[in-house]
Amino acid sequence: MERFKGKVAIVTGGARGIGAAITHRLGSEGAQVAIFDIDAEAGKRRLTELRERGVDAILVQGDVSREGDVKRCVSQVVETFGKINVLVNNAGIGFSGKPIFEQSLEEWNRVISVNLTGPYLFAKHAAEVMVKSGGGVIVNIASTRALQSEPNTEPYSASKGGLLALTHSLAVSLAPYRIRVIAVSPGWIDTAGRVVPPHKSQLTTLDHEQHPAGRVGTPEDVAALVAFLASDEAGFITGTNVIIDGGMTVKMLYLDDKIVADSLFHLTGDREFSELVRKAVLAGSLERVKKVLKSALEEGF
Ligand SMILES: NC(=O)c1ccc[n+]([C@@H]2O[C@H](COP(=O)([O-])OP(=O)(O)OC[C@H]3O[C@@H](n4cnc5c(N)ncnc54)[C@H](O)[C@@H]3O)[C@@H](O)[C@H]2O)c1
Repeated sequence: MERFKGKVAIVTGGARGIGAAITHRLGSEGAQVAIFDIDAEAGKRRLTELRERGVDAILVQGDVSREGDVKRCVSQVVETFGKINVLVNNAGIGFSGKPIFEQSLEEWNRVISVNLTGPYLFAKHAAEVMVKSGGGVIVNIASTRALQSEPNTEPYSASKGGLLALTHSLAVSLAPYRIRVIAVSPGWIDTAGRVVPPHKSQLTTLDHEQHPAGRVGTPEDVAALVAFLASDEAGFITGTNVIIDGGMTVKMLYLDDKIVADSLFHLTGDREFSELVRKAVLAGSLERVKKVLKSALEEGF
């Protein structure tokens, strides 16, 4: 497939993870690719990889939340490739998961400025160029956390919720210029193979099997969807949010903490341990449940 032959794409956060898979996918389908990333080292390695595969690519180092960096990237891409057809706003940062009472305004501002202001700035400056070449596509990588939450994720969830609203707002404003704008909301994506240097996946059978699709997602799953949405085949899709999560957001969960605690007490006879697990289940945090179970197993249960 050469759906992007003659097209130019910018992928923010393209050095690692999902962004790296998107650069590979678009490049393998014929696009000229600009990686924009804050991490120059990881970016250089990804650039070399792309070029070795015959992709015409450049790297621009910068921070999506700094308007000067965004403008510099857009100018450099136009200077090098002459136009912009596709923008993938993928760069994003997570949040440490501190309780709301311990979250600082600086932490909130940083997450919002990278995950929401960054896509706004890139859309604004890249769209100006797209208008001149008769249209384009902007894909914003949001998250299922725009729609549902684990505890203590306020800045991240709010930034991704804002990104969904930014998506429909841009789609309507830019429609007269034939620019489509779409959000993609991934669920759990294992990026271990796309970190720099690559790590071995740490996932358990439980991690995979809780998904209706039977497995955790991969960066390549997301890249395939982004490539479809950015291609002309998706010409009737704009303004919407496409969820790619192996079915997790539609799965109804009625996990009863008491049943879990009573079953564990029955099995282990340890009231303190079963109470710890019950509290972790109640908090709704998979990470906490995993931590409690892991330390219990290490102690010989
Ligand atoms: N991995 C998941 O499970 C998952 C799930 C839902 C949504 N997402 C979203 O997908 C996107 C990519 O996630 P990932 O897991 O591949 O992350 P990652 O951390 O593996 O990669 C993010 C990339 O963005 C770059 N980056 C970070 N801050 C930047 C900044 N200010 N300016 C420019 N570049 C910056 C990093 O250097 C890195 O190369 C993010 O927006 C994330 O919120 C990821």
